[in-house]
Amino acid sequence: MKEGKKMAYVALYRKWRPLTFDEVVEQESIVTILKNTVKTGRIAHAYLFCGTRGTGKTTLAKIFARAINCLSPKEGNPCNECDICKGILSGQILDVSEIDAASNNGVDNIRAIIDETNYAPSISKYRVYIIDEVHMLSTGAFNALLKTLEEPPSGVVFILATTEPHKLPVTILSRCQRYDFKRISRQGIMARLEEICKDIGVKYETQALNFIAQKADGALRDAISILDQTIAASQNNITLKAARDSSGSLDRMFIEQFAEKLLLQDGGSILKLSDSIFADGRDPSNFISELMRLFRSLLIVLNIDNPKELLYEDDEEIERLKKLSSLTNTKEIAYLVKELSKLENNLKWAVQRKIVFEAGMLNLCDRRTSTEDDMEDRISLLESKLADLVANGLKYTQVTPVVTADEKVEKVEKKKEEKIEEPKPEPKKEEIDEAKPKKESKNAKPIDTLDWNDFLQNITDKNKSSISALIRVNSKGFVLEPNYLIIAFSNKMMMDMVVRNNVFDILDESASIAFGKPMKVKLLMEDELEAFSASTYTGEKEQEKTEEDDDFENALNLLSQLAEDEGFEIVNIE
Ligand SMILES: Nc1ncnc2c1ncn2[C@@H]1O[C@H](COP(=O)(O)OP(=O)(O)OP(=O)(O)O)[C@@H](O)[C@H]1O
Ligand SMILES: [Mg+2]
Ligand SMILES: [Zn+2]
Repeated sequence: MKEGKKMAYVALYRKWRPLTFDEVVEQESIVTILKNTVKTGRIAHAYLFCGTRGTGKTTLAKIFARAINCLSPKEGNPCNECDICKGILSGQILDVSEIDAASNNGVDNIRAIIDETNYAPSISKYRVYIIDEVHMLSTGAFNALLKTLEEPPSGVVFILATTEPHKLPVTILSRCQRYDFKRISRQGIMARLEEICKDIGVKYETQALNFIAQKADGALRDAISILDQTIAASQNNITLKAARDSSGSLDRMFIEQFAEKLLLQDGGSILKLSDSIFADGRDPSNFISELMRLFRSLLIVLNIDNPKELLYEDDEEIERLKKLSSLTNTKEIAYLVKELSKLENNLKWAVQRKIVFEAGMLNLCDRRTSTEDDMEDRISLLESKLADLVANGLKYTQVTPVVTADEKVEKVEKKKEEKIEEPKPEPKKEEIDEAKPKKESKNAKPIDTLDWNDFLQNITDKNKSSISALIRVNSKGFVLEPNYLIIAFSNKMMMDMVVRNNVFDILDESASIAFGKPMKVKLLMEDELEAFSASTYTGEKEQEKTEEDDDFENALNLLSQLAEDEGFEIVNIE
């Protein structure tokens, strides 16, 4: 616990994660029962640890997992010195696994575990699965887990941890031994903070620790984080003022930083910051509310001469707000606030909260390409391109939008009616009408979305449900004969997330199964689509363009625009 002072910075609360039951602050009744369990060896198959965040659920799960496997437990505590304890601590013995259900919530993640449980643990007595944030599991995953809990393999122990037990199915609840973790008392937190300060040799005012304990509201992790922040900001002298400043500023600085990156449309930073929100166990909805509050302050700063009267902030803070506000304008903020409140609402119902949060924030980063003004620009650009193409002829062939034959007839007819009603149609409109039938080539075959859905399902079946969801939400599929499936993303960050996961084999295989022939998957940005065709694809990004390519690209580009305007889902280009 005291190692690592000279190493890379490790958050104080991690360094101070208790390694034995006896070091745990409070939670006495839980500690007593778990120690007795270790002593008697009467281990249940499933435990549920629930309660407020930062109160020791994961910590106790890890201690318990070692204790029941320890070769020489002391009074129910793991010795942390035998080969087994050391192996588990260093990660060399894999019989204790921690699974974060927030990011592995698919049925296949659970099936993978269940398959494993058919084998005996490698060296330890028990194979232990700690499933954190278990309320995030999908329904399918819960069902799979339930089956195992109903007929538990011997030698396997599940420890489920959650802050939201009410989200668990009753069937799961009824199979687990449940422990409710309490908030840590003010005194308990104070004592721990004092112990830490003494150990690392920093001076402190008692009121300061008291203040931090109050601020943390029962979550010991939060208290230690504020302490950490205060130490960093106050040159090792924890005064009440320093604690106050940094407990407030900890959050405020973070939120301002987030807002700044959002205004700068810096998606990469937004992803990193988002990650730390979830890693720190913060509530993303609360975070959004705070962010909205900040944007409202910016509105005031932007629109009122003497904002101090309305904001109750000190000069320094007002200066910072002014600086931030110089990056934006009233219209933009109004838009952001509106979208944030939608996102906040979506989060309430989301199972994949992290993905929804990240995708929502990234969309906000992309806002300037999706505002209405911009859309108008794009439409008029499209119109002039179409006019151009009509004038110079279309060279591309065999293109099929996703509409059924009937829908197509309907559409064409509707256009005809419009024409009749409109004696003097604007020239541009007419050109569009004439151009449209051309994309319905004789060879066009109606495409259903089945292949696409199959493809996505195959990815899910390969244990990558989050990738599947990412692709479904953020991209469109295109088929390029003979054997390319192109996934065109509207958002670079989302594409990068898929790339980073290095799942190309899985994608190829999923596509091959869906199409029943060998397929290659290629990821690109929607606006790169035009630069891509089967004949030019050599694995390299781009080649010299010929005139024909240009036409082909134009047509492709146009079509993707049309698809967007008309609401087609998938376009098949042969
Ligand atoms: N009861 C406790 N005794 C000692 N330290 C604690 C206790 N609870 C929390 N901590 C401190 O907070 C850190 C985080 O605790 P832990 O991960 O166990 O919380 P948790 O209940 O699992 O939270 P979450 O619900 O956010 O996952 C620990 O590393 C430790 O420093
Ligand atoms: Mg935890
Ligand atoms: Zn041991």
